[in-house]
Amino acid sequence: MKLLVTGGAGFIGSHFVKRMLRGGDEIVVLDKLTYSGNRANLPPGVELHVGDIAEPSHVSRAAHGCDAIVNFAAETHVDRSILAAEDFGRTEFRGTQVLLEHVRATGIRLVHVSTDEVYGDLEAGGAATENDRLHPSSPYSAAKAAGDLLVPAYVRTFEVNASITRGSNTYGANQYPEKFIPLFATNALDREPLPLYGDGRQVRDWLHADDHCAGIELVLRKGAAGEVYNVGGGDEHENIEVAERILELTGAPRSLLCSVPDRPGHDRRYALDTTKLRALGWAPAHAFEDGLRETVAWYRDNRAWWEPIKSGEYRDYYERQYAERLANATPA
Ligand code: NAD
Ligand code: DAU
Repeated sequence: MKLLVTGGAGFIGSHFVKRMLRGGDEIVVLDKLTYSGNRANLPPGVELHVGDIAEPSHVSRAAHGCDAIVNFAAETHVDRSILAAEDFGRTEFRGTQVLLEHVRATGIRLVHVSTDEVYGDLEAGGAATENDRLHPSSPYSAAKAAGDLLVPAYVRTFEVNASITRGSNTYGANQYPEKFIPLFATNALDREPLPLYGDGRQVRDWLHADDHCAGIELVLRKGAAGEVYNVGGGDEHENIEVAERILELTGAPRSLLCSVPDRPGHDRRYALDTTKLRALGWAPAHAFEDGLRETVAWYRDNRAWWEPIKSGEYRDYYERQYAERLANATPA
């Protein structure tokens, strides 16, 4: 297949590009190269169009001759959506609509990559199924939910060939160090404070990037139009437990771990029922304990990738997000 991977220079998109190249598919990437997009995430020689999914001409130029589009392009950080939400609406809603209009006009397939956050907070014990109602809590997850709603509407009205995946919290190499695991790993390596939001007892369902990409590939090949497929690691852990393990893996002192004022609207727990994707033949291959060890080792061995990122725009963001919080920190 010849595939257009939108957002392919980001974290999960670049893992997907490498996976599909290994499998012999031809890849074109369309990426706006926002702060989290990085040419260095892509293997040499990949055809990269720097452009915006919300611009129809950028999409039609990049998608020329492609058999399918897999859409990873998004503004992806909850905390940034709380600081300023505008770009989230444009990329997540308008961008998804432009992609749907393209597949409507050309008849090619679309896999739209979404998130478990659209289901919102879950009680202990339960797991979200694909039929659950959407109940997003943050500007990020609301924007993702808005984009998601367009997909079945275009399938029903225009009979486009599109499916949705909803993945759980993903970790691995090349994740921008604003997110929990790479932020805590790189801060621990630098012996900087680890800012745990609130009591740190929030639960996330961790999924290795390779397992997430395997699920997306399966949906691309075997998923049905109009259907949603959950992709969840089934590896639930409290944030404080993950933070303590990162301290052990980096040999950093416990005193670095601090409790800071919580994220507004913070969801307490996510969990996914993955029965539907497993019926197509998918199962996660990476246990979180092994994957976390390998991921922390990757950040230890790849300072050349993340040290340049942690300057400029990142420092400004870090200051806005954490300076006041760290001034009010208490021991965790
Ligand atoms: P990321 O921030 O690392 O990558 C996003 C990429 O999209 C970047 O390369 C960025 O430059 C690009 N982009 C942003 N706006 C664009 C636009 N308008 N046009 C073209 N490119 C644009 O994010 P990620 O973690 O790799 O997430 C990829 C997708 O997976 C997102 O849709 C996200 O919602 C979803 N997702 C992420 C997770 C997770 O835990 N990271 C879990 C489930 C789902
Ligand atoms: O669940 C899937 C989602 O996972 C994706 O859709 C998002 O794109 C991705 O960013 C991620 O969202 P989260 O909000 O769950 O991830 P984040 O890494 O921001 O935070 C994970 C948990 O760690 C969450 O409970 C908040 C907490 N946290 C995070 C940061 C950055 C802290 O305690 N301190 C921090 O400094």
